[in-house]
Amino acid sequence: MNFLIVQSHPEATSYNAQLTGAAQRALSTSGNEVVISDLYAEGFDPVEAGRHYRNRIDASAFVPLAEQRHASDTHTLPQDVVAEIAKLEAADVVILQFPLWWHGPPAILKGWFDRVFVSGKIYRSRMRYDTGYFKGKRAVLSVTTGAPETAFGPGARGGEMSTMLWPIQYSLHYLGFSVLAPQCHFEASGHGYGYGDELETKRRLEQNIDNWSSRLAHIADEDPLNFPGWASWDEAGRSISRAEQDVC
Ligand SMILES: Cc1cc2nc3c(=O)[nH]c(=O)nc-3n(C[C@H](O)[C@H](O)[C@H](O)COP(=O)(O)O)c2cc1C
Repeated sequence: MNFLIVQSHPEATSYNAQLTGAAQRALSTSGNEVVISDLYAEGFDPVEAGRHYRNRIDASAFVPLAEQRHASDTHTLPQDVVAEIAKLEAADVVILQFPLWWHGPPAILKGWFDRVFVSGKIYRSRMRYDTGYFKGKRAVLSVTTGAPETAFGPGARGGEMSTMLWPIQYSLHYLGFSVLAPQCHFEASGHGYGYGDELETKRRLEQNIDNWSSRLAHIADEDPLNFPGWASWDEAGRSISRAEQDVC
């Protein structure tokens, strides 16, 4: 199978980079092809802006959706975006590897979504959700946190993981991916920022890497998370079951 790992961390010796390296080794050893998009190393520009478009449909006002669609139709998409789309198209499974920064993904990964998932090419009104462009492909988040596992949950100090990951996981579902349960590597801060004993932390982080590598061996057989699809909504986009409930 073909795997794409999108790595969003500025430091090549970080725990995130170690997770990416371990995933690459485990997957390659079992005969898979692995491609890595290392967004910081590649200098990926996450800021969507008019300067990326060389053949503007309207030079006087930058309307992102219009320029994306026009650039796609006229084959003038920015080269870095074209390269990322090609990697996604070749992948059977996409892994997004990132640290939790301010209760969400780092800005570089959010900007990768903004720029790479091009309106008109990657999604259109009826080419979304369970009829999305990437239907048949799988996606999984591998997320590191600073806070310990006990601090995550409804009302807990660190927030609820499913809520914090919802925008990115729902966007992947919007694009047609089957989204698998995230792999969370809690309390991943090394470099003196950990909460516990340093040796114990090192062992735990190594164990996390082994757990992740073991999971990857069977990731193609996992059942995806459940998200609503077109059959779940009425013409106005309301949930059919909720619309039935919300009668007054
Ligand atoms: C800008 C920034 C924001 C952060 N926000 C959070 C957060 O919201 N929740 C959390 O648990 N950890 C947070 N952290 C801690 C990182 O998640 C943690 O340091 C990282 O996962 C460790 O992996 P690394 O060694 O690969 O950087 C934040 C760190 C930074 C630099």
